Amino acid sequence: MRVYEKRLDIEKDVADLHKQNKSIGFVPTMGALHTGHLALVKKALDQNHVVVVSIFVNPTQFNNSEDLIKYPRTLESDLALLSTVSDDLIVFIPQSEEIYGQETNALNYNFNGLENEMEGKFRPGHFDGVGTVLKHFFTIVSPTRAYFGEKDFQQLQIVKKLVEIENMSVQIIGCPIFRETSGLALSSRNKRLSEKQLQESPLIYKTLKQVKNDFGTKSVLDLTDWVSEQFKNNKVLELEYFEIAKVSDLKSIREKQKNIKYRAFIAVFAGEVRLIDNIALN
Ligand code: PAF
Repeated sequence: MRVYEKRLDIEKDVADLHKQNKSIGFVPTMGALHTGHLALVKKALDQNHVVVVSIFVNPTQFNNSEDLIKYPRTLESDLALLSTVSDDLIVFIPQSEEIYGQETNALNYNFNGLENEMEGKFRPGHFDGVGTVLKHFFTIVSPTRAYFGEKDFQQLQIVKKLVEIENMSVQIIGCPIFRETSGLALSSRNKRLSEKQLQESPLIYKTLKQVKNDFGTKSVLDLTDWVSEQFKNNKVLELEYFEIAKVSDLKSIREKQKNIKYRAFIAVFAGEVRLIDNIALN
């Protein structure tokens, strides 16, 4: 495993790989790795000559400073986990200055309105931070393909838009959501859940599955009311939002139309820990 902290060092390695016509798969992460990340790395290994994994808790995408402070940082076990997948990975673990220089600022993006829906509404500035850090990473790593989980479906759509706006040649690959056997979507934030919260949180996916089941026969309003009901009396989980939205522009809908692809999106607080999930409906 080649572990780099300095931008210039990884850039040199990557330039050599490009000279040898090697394809580069890239898995950007914020660490606290779980089997979902490892599955992205495995897929990247299948499709590319070399794989780069970055581990960087990006400050500009946190709208809540407490969330940034408490974000799990587990570098040693992350590296150990990565080495169980392959000894041949390139791992990039920069400090903030390597990415941002002296001023840790996000750029202002217009992602065609995708940034204003759901997560964008509840986490102002979040997608500017994600777009900015990925623009820097794509410039440094110059990957052939980059891999993202569908748990952050809105992020995935925005990253596709980012490479269009920035005219970058990287191919963006979305990968299915990985789940605990309980149904809870894998997330680095799950490490912060208490025993009780872990016990209750499968309700999130259970609810989404029922919505998918009923989507053909019930109205959007009835489904939305039903979801609110599921969380109303739950003492552990607090619903932040539930929306049924078009896949194409992520705008939430009140009525279904034929031949349009929809997805249901949900955000729930378990104490201070914010969990998101989504499901394809048709
Ligand atoms: O999904 C994440 O972990 C982050 O948003 C990403 C893509 C690594 C950018 O910091």
